[in-house]
Amino acid sequence: TNSTSTAIYNLHTQSDTMAGTGAGGFSTIAIIGAGSVGCTIAHTLMLRRVCAEVRLVDIAEDLCRAQVQDLQDATYLTNVRIKYATPQEAGQSDIIVITAGAKQKPGETRLDLIEKNYKVLGSVLKGLQPINPQSIILLVANPVDVLTHFAQQMSGLPKNQVLGSGTLLDSIRLRGLLAQRLEVCIPEIEDSIKGRPVNIVLQISDNSINAYVIGEHGDSQCVAWSSVTVSGAHISVIDEISDEDRTKIGKLVSGKANAIIRAKGFTSYGIGATAANICEAILFDQRPVYPLSCWHEEYQCCISLPAVVGRKGIVSQIPLPLNDKEKAQIEASAKTLREQIAKF
Ligand code: LAC
Repeated sequence: TNSTSTAIYNLHTQSDTMAGTGAGGFSTIAIIGAGSVGCTIAHTLMLRRVCAEVRLVDIAEDLCRAQVQDLQDATYLTNVRIKYATPQEAGQSDIIVITAGAKQKPGETRLDLIEKNYKVLGSVLKGLQPINPQSIILLVANPVDVLTHFAQQMSGLPKNQVLGSGTLLDSIRLRGLLAQRLEVCIPEIEDSIKGRPVNIVLQISDNSINAYVIGEHGDSQCVAWSSVTVSGAHISVIDEISDEDRTKIGKLVSGKANAIIRAKGFTSYGIGATAANICEAILFDQRPVYPLSCWHEEYQCCISLPAVVGRKGIVSQIPLPLNDKEKAQIEASAKTLREQIAKF
């Protein structure tokens, strides 16, 4: 081969020694796990220019290098660098996103993955050492709440710097469903030409609905119905949702991942968008309120409730007013998680 072209090629593919924000002054995000979730997060980070460099890590080196090669072909859109990295390099990044582990098979719950993924997490965290003390670890692998707890214990970082994507994705799914429902909630308005009902009455952006799924990112999660608002008013002012419909909506939200997995084998775009959004909030210290998995003294586990997220990770927790039913549900969800933790 031509030695000049080899040298140029190496410039683009070899790992350099710049670490974290230190040496180069640029921001870096490492993604552990080059499967469909890890790579979708990488791709989303690149397209949104969240950081200057994305570092992809996987024990399956050939696969990881191939994913990097493919993603490199997307860098021309934004010039965000993507590279293959060692675990040690990853440990020096501003954010370390952990997606490595087994994924749910159709019909499996997220909790079914704990035995395998607890072990994977242990070896991942060992490989990352010594972790940059300023790093934020974002858990995405499932069961995310239980793994976030163990990552807090094993990583050596302060608890506020280790968080899980939690129920942010579920909350986005909920907002999407509610927005769709509002579109069809006043069907009596007639289309003047064809004389039939039209279903385009209230087209509200998902983002203008304030609604939280809280608790486990899993089957014991619950919708905080008492605080669902649109434009500051409780949603019932616009749309009286019966208890039966609330239950149905809650099941659609908690079952959405499994419904997708049954047909395509995994979920990727939703979590890709969610994780990239959390990374952006961290790196730019934006401090949005998101339901993320973090340690709650009251519940003695990592569980999702609204929290403020910024460059130091979880900056503070915002108390959400809950009615008695919701309080009982979140307590039951926390109990489920504590039982999982106690197995180890
Ligand atoms: C989902 C996976 C990330 O809910 O748990 O899509």
